[in-house]
Formats: sequence, C-alpha cells, structure tokens
Amino acid sequence: MKTLLVGYRAKDLFEKDRRGRLATASWTGGDTVCHTLDIYDRHAIEKTHHLRTICAPHLPAGPWDLVRFRTGPKLMSGELALDLLQEIHLLKPAKFELDYVGRERDRNDLLAKIRDDPDRVRDFSARWKASVPGIEPVEFTSFPGCFCHRRMDEGGLALAEVAAREIAGTDAVNLLDMGCGCGLVGLLVAKAVPRVSLVMVDSHSRAVEAAEMNAKNLGVAAEVILSDNGTPARMDGTFDVFVGNPPYYSDYRIADVFLETAKRALRPGGACYTVCKNAAGLEPVQKRYFPEVETIRRRGYAVLRSVMV
Ligand SMILES: C[S@@+](CC[C@H](N)C(=O)[O-])C[C@H]1O[C@@H](n2cnc3c(N)ncnc32)[C@H](O)[C@@H]1O
Repeated sequence: MKTLLVGYRAKDLFEKDRRGRLATASWTGGDTVCHTLDIYDRHAIEKTHHLRTICAPHLPAGPWDLVRFRTGPKLMSGELALDLLQEIHLLKPAKFELDYVGRERDRNDLLAKIRDDPDRVRDFSARWKASVPGIEPVEFTSFPGCFCHRRMDEGGLALAEVAAREIAGTDAVNLLDMGCGCGLVGLLVAKAVPRVSLVMVDSHSRAVEAAEMNAKNLGVAAEVILSDNGTPARMDGTFDVFVGNPPYYSDYRIADVFLETAKRALRPGGACYTVCKNAAGLEPVQKRYFPEVETIRRRGYAVLRSVMV
C-alpha cells in the first residue's frame, strides 16, 4: 500500500505499543512516505522514525493508494490547507483521509471548497511590491506557507532599510540573509547596493522556491540554500554582512541558531544585523555571540547591530 502523509510532524506519528511504550504509529506501515514543507520537520521525523521523508514545496507525484492529510486552524493557515488539499485532489489518490484537528463544521467547509467545484484549479500565489530608499518598488511573489505571504513584513523592511543604508557606498559586499522567506531583505539590499553578492538560506522549501523565483525575476544572481542549520562549512568566515529576521515563537531558540550562524559566517570586522519588536528579549541572545550590541530604531522595530571581532 503506497501511502503519502501530508502535514504530519514527528510528534503526530507516535502511538503506544502493547507494552505502553511510544512507537511509530502502526498506520504508517507499508510503503509510507512522509512529506514535509520544512527541512526541520524532515530532520525531526528522520531522528525519531524509520520513515521515508520528502521535503519539497509541492507534493510528490503518485500513484498513491492512500493520501492522509493532517490539518486544522491551529496547524496551518486556511490558505495553505486549501492549497495542499487542491494538490492532493490533483494527485487523484485511490483513497483520501482527512485528519482534521478542529471543529466538524470547519472540516466540512474545507472539504466543500474542493467538492463543490472540483475542476477549478486556483492559483494561491500572491504578488506585492516593496522598496527601500533609493530604488523603485520591486515586485515579490509569495506562496502559502512561506513568510510573508500576501504582504510585506514591516520588521523585515526595517532590517532591509537599515542594512542598505549602512552598507551603501562600500565596495563588494558578501551578504548572507538567513531565514530569507521570499527574499525580502536580501533582495532589497542587493537592489539598493551595487556589487552585493547574495546568499539566502531558509528551512522552508516554499520560501526557497519563492526566493529563487524573486531573485531571478529581479535580475539578482543569488545562491539560495534549504537548511535549518545555517550555511555549509565552506562559507565560514566569508561574509561581510549578515541579516536575519528570525521567528520568535520558540523562546529565542531559532534566534540562537541564526546568531550562531552569523558568528561562524562573518569575517572579522563583518556586521551582523537582526531585527525584533522588543530589543530586551533578543539582546541577551545576541550578546552570547557578540560583545557589543547597538540598537537602531526603525518603523517601531529594533534592529540590533554587532561587529565581529
Ligand atoms: C520572520 S520570517 C522572516 C522572513 C524574511 N526574512 C522577512 O523578513 O520577510 C523567519 C524565516 O525564518 C525561517 N526559519 C525558521 N527556522 C529556520 C532555521 N532554523 N534556519 C533557516 N531558516 C529558518 C522561516 O521559514 C521564515 O521564513
């Protein structure tokens, strides 16, 4: 039985065995493949389960005997759920099971959107514009699941503005944008400052897809890397500037990964810029890696600047 699991995280794949110990759920048996959008989730599954996993922006082609989809309002945005449901519908699996975490009414509403108009294929991508001083607005494309979808993030824009202003006028700059999302920060800086050589990293496959597409559309030559663990060792000490707008939902654990990467990636004298709403939370984390942290206020956000010694 060829089964595709969609929307599952490592913790969702456990059940208790006969001795009451946690084991990989029996319903994952047979020829099961687990799809993830984020490489972090893939690594977490591979660490705890013997399951074949695929991390990709879109679902793998079949044929599939069964597709099992776990979703709900607390697990992903409604638009991402609908987008994935449409991809599953287009795969035409022999059987489909919806593992819905939420109200029955919302579950039925989601299913009805495909059932009521099965031939309609919706495009969930969005296009919007952003700019920093000195350049005309440029167009970005985003997809459900990638940050930020349908709108620009003000914190990211504040970071791009500060970084572009501070490095304007310098010669060639090797720039690392970690947690690039659709490429907002790195690409705006690269458009504003000539001779920027850009590397972008994100753990989310749809962010990487969007960043690659946006770099191409904006005529910026950039290397885009899918990773939850920073840049490869060959890049250690090679960057002049690091920019990062980390997510803060994990008690600064991910911000810590970002700053550890900044410390490894920057050459002596290189500059690290991060952004957050409230400097008091991030500053102690940044101080673990850099002795001095300067706060620059912009758009209601705090951009934290440090120099690699
Ligand atoms: C707040 S968003 C910022 C996106 C973009 N830089 C902006 O400002 O609009 C944070 C990004 O970090 C990514 N991310 C989370 N954990 C990560 C990790 N361990 N390594 C790389 N990227 C990560 C997320 O997928 C998300 O795209």
